[in-house]
Amino acid sequence: MLPEYGRPVNDLLAELTALKAADLPVRGGTVTAYVYDTGRPEVHDAAHRAYAEMLEVNMLDPTAFPSMVALERQVVAAAAELLGRPGAPGIFTSGGTESIMLAVKAARDARPGATRVVLPVTAHPAFHKAAHYLGMEIVPVPVDPVTFRASVPAVEAAVDDRTALVVASAPSYPQGVVDPVEEIAAIAASRGVLCHVDACVGGWLLPWLREAGAAVPPFDLGVPGVTSISCDLHKYGYAPKGASVLLFRDAGLRRRAYFASAAWPGYTIINATVQSSRSAGPLAGAWATLQSLGREGYRELGRTTLEATRRLAEGIRAIPGLRVLGEPETSLVAVAGSPEVDVFVLADEARRLGWFLQPQLSYAGIPANLHITVTGVTLSGVDAMLDVIARSAEAARARGPAAVPDGLPELIASLDLDALDDATFAQLAASVGIDLGPSRVGDAGTGDRGVDGTGLGDGAGPGDGGGQGDGGGPGDGGGMAAVNAVLDALPAETREAILVRFLSVMYA
Ligand SMILES: Cc1ncc(COP(=O)(O)O)c(C=O)c1O
Repeated sequence: MLPEYGRPVNDLLAELTALKAADLPVRGGTVTAYVYDTGRPEVHDAAHRAYAEMLEVNMLDPTAFPSMVALERQVVAAAAELLGRPGAPGIFTSGGTESIMLAVKAARDARPGATRVVLPVTAHPAFHKAAHYLGMEIVPVPVDPVTFRASVPAVEAAVDDRTALVVASAPSYPQGVVDPVEEIAAIAASRGVLCHVDACVGGWLLPWLREAGAAVPPFDLGVPGVTSISCDLHKYGYAPKGASVLLFRDAGLRRRAYFASAAWPGYTIINATVQSSRSAGPLAGAWATLQSLGREGYRELGRTTLEATRRLAEGIRAIPGLRVLGEPETSLVAVAGSPEVDVFVLADEARRLGWFLQPQLSYAGIPANLHITVTGVTLSGVDAMLDVIARSAEAARARGPAAVPDGLPELIASLDLDALDDATFAQLAASVGIDLGPSRVGDAGTGDRGVDGTGLGDGAGPGDGGGQGDGGGPGDGGGMAAVNAVLDALPAETREAILVRFLSVMYA
């Protein structure tokens, strides 16, 4: 509510602190998704201060604020140098999704009439979103069931005259493996089609892992046939959120991503991104992070990340009932369970111990699993993490798999969701033990408002009354296993419809 009279800053900050008490912690390494921690507070502090310094500069008009042009040039140049094509043109964007949106738009506008995007099933949904927004069509291609890398013959078979863009990931998020970029880019080039490498995760990581001794295959703009690449600085660049770089093979393709309009009587619009007015804070935060870590800093973070990933994968393989999916080549580890050890139950148990492991639902023949993003801070706590996973696996074995009420998935799949208003939907959820009431949201201090990989808050689960109550750590995770098990039993379209309804109820 808007107060009648202005409130003092201390009061406001105290309220923010109280609200944040229910959040997952962004530092410390106990949350294995969403956040990237160097373990070096001085780096994050430099970013915060630079962010605040540039917060009010508006990137809407580069002629009005040349400071942002200078910063963007530096950041883009650093990315181009790291990613195989020094001097390549680029755009600083707000994140992976926006970089991907612009790469897809550039491809669409570069090849009028071609409306298809050939996409491995492990690629990020940002491509589906871009296709949805831009009126294009996704042509899904399978991945190898053992390595989880995109199938090259399937890509080859999927490309045709209507293809605007072929995509490879370096790495894909679900199993952290790098698609065969060289082969895929060669297919695209031989058919005169553009090829985007989604290196949102790996762009600012793989080069350092390679220096640390990892066998990283060629994946960047130096590979013949690759025409654009996205690299998120707010992931392994360790910059504050709102920072990604999209690079293009040439300026002509970059111009296809731009948008200009003079079709109104106001100021002329020249936009490099989806957004128009936007703060230069994220750009300055990213620039400061790069400058304050330098090559040496990133090299060291790469080394510790590689060591932590290897130790983690090895440790998990030794835990009965668990297995690692694929061969984690980067810094992402996917842990599958077994009939005896249900990973959704395991995640709840880990949550009870103060750790967040991200559930990933089964899809395209890939089993449900838990995702772990290893970052710079992980190595110092890797034994503690392994201990928590081992204890949680034991507890999950004792509890048994999450039960899906008989007939519930079929019932949900048969519902006409459009015929239900949000209140009825919430009531229906409550009747099967899932509390979606708005009172569950913003309940600072109970420590149970985390968000899991399905987009459902932990507060949505039944029987989570025994939360830690300290407001500082992850919640108790008492009930998400049942919710995840039900979602897992539903087809993807029904999951999506349910998630949209959940979001709508959350903001009711
Ligand atoms: C491979 C990959 N691409 C794109 C994205 C989207 O990035 P963002 O959340 O910054 O929009 C992600 C996010 O995790 C990702 O893992």
